[in-house]
Amino acid sequence: MITPQEFARRRRDLMAMMGKNSIAILTAAPERVRSRDTHYPFRQDSDFYYLSGFPEPEAVLVLLPKRPDGEFILFCRERDRAREIWDGYRAGPEGARELYSADDAFPIADIDDILPGLLEGRDRVYYALGRNRAFDGRLLDWLDGIRARARAGAVPPEEFVDLDHLLHEMRLFKSAKELGVMRKAGAISARAHCRAMRAARPGLYEYQLQAEIEHAFASEGARHPAYGSIVGGGANACVLHYVENSAPLQDGDLVLIDAGCEYQHYAADITRTFPVNGKFSAPQQALYEVVLAAQLAAIAAVRAGNHWDEPHKATVRVITEGLVELSLLKGKVEDLIASNAYAQFYMHRAGHWLGMDVHDVGDYKVDNEWRLLEPGMVMTVEPGIYVAPDNRKVAKKWRGIGIRIEDDVAITRKGPEVLTAGVPKTIADIEHLMAS
Ligand code: GLY
Ligand code: MN
Ligand code: MN
Repeated sequence: MITPQEFARRRRDLMAMMGKNSIAILTAAPERVRSRDTHYPFRQDSDFYYLSGFPEPEAVLVLLPKRPDGEFILFCRERDRAREIWDGYRAGPEGARELYSADDAFPIADIDDILPGLLEGRDRVYYALGRNRAFDGRLLDWLDGIRARARAGAVPPEEFVDLDHLLHEMRLFKSAKELGVMRKAGAISARAHCRAMRAARPGLYEYQLQAEIEHAFASEGARHPAYGSIVGGGANACVLHYVENSAPLQDGDLVLIDAGCEYQHYAADITRTFPVNGKFSAPQQALYEVVLAAQLAAIAAVRAGNHWDEPHKATVRVITEGLVELSLLKGKVEDLIASNAYAQFYMHRAGHWLGMDVHDVGDYKVDNEWRLLEPGMVMTVEPGIYVAPDNRKVAKKWRGIGIRIEDDVAITRKGPEVLTAGVPKTIADIEHLMAS
């Protein structure tokens, strides 16, 4: 669990980088309508949660380094007996102070009266412009109000700085506690994939495997998937973000499941591909071994000191070699890599940063160079091969096969740590589990 001390440390670290006489302003995520007057389950904005642990909508977080009257201020909904009977509990400003350690807290309805006074006289404003257009407009109105009083001595801030740069660099490096939560997210998600493998059989619908997976997430306290679960049988696996999950699973096909839970605001992201009937066919096996070899080569390259692109390059080489070996590609490996010939079968990158967001924040390049991997970073490793069902350039036996294998890997001083190792991925281990 992320402790109140850790939230406080994050605010301290950010404020130390912001420097004196600055202000940071962050808004909570909005509630979103799903249907008329019902909403999607609320999910706090990751940046907002990272700095506060505060779980409610209609809130604004303000940091004011070295301000004697308080550095951490929250605006939030007031407590309201009637609203709480209908919609659930609220912390209120008192709760924001007592439970979330705000130095001061005010009703969100009072923000127009209070925030301009906090902005006035600050040299620098840290804010993620463009993320919340409605709030951008209000911020500009408050600034206009200060400028209009310039002759009366009001001093508007001089500089606007993108908050993302500092904050996302912090989020890229996971603390010991964050890694602990991510290990748990990975373990729950791995158990869920095992459950789906055991349940699979011809005639089930894709959504029934989705139900197995999401049952396993929720019953271990991971109440939401980190992204829309993908369950694609047969050629549906070739649609990279297939989320319809509505087709029946056919005997003789593979099924690709890309699903991970969110646990305490941290994501897991696992893909496994396995035979609906429990046994790989010869062509499925041949392509699977190529993807697995590519994935293992890439994981071996997830090491401090390597740069971001090295795991990806490892997958491109192994996949191109494998496709030549199996005659899906013809020519010299070096030429096929140089001409991106592999991309008709492998059209995405080998991974992404992972954290509170499934495609997590953090720069991939620094000064226009791929950045070096460092301990504390977490990424996915997820090569795949997808043979379009209408690809007439390859033998028929390959068509419509889609395979991806994805694990979550933390970079540690001792090498790569696979957070999702609890679900099998060799052919022997998968067939063994499915037979049990
Ligand atoms: N599930 C989304 C991804 O693998 O990137
Ligand atoms: Mn995935
Ligand atoms: Mn992924």
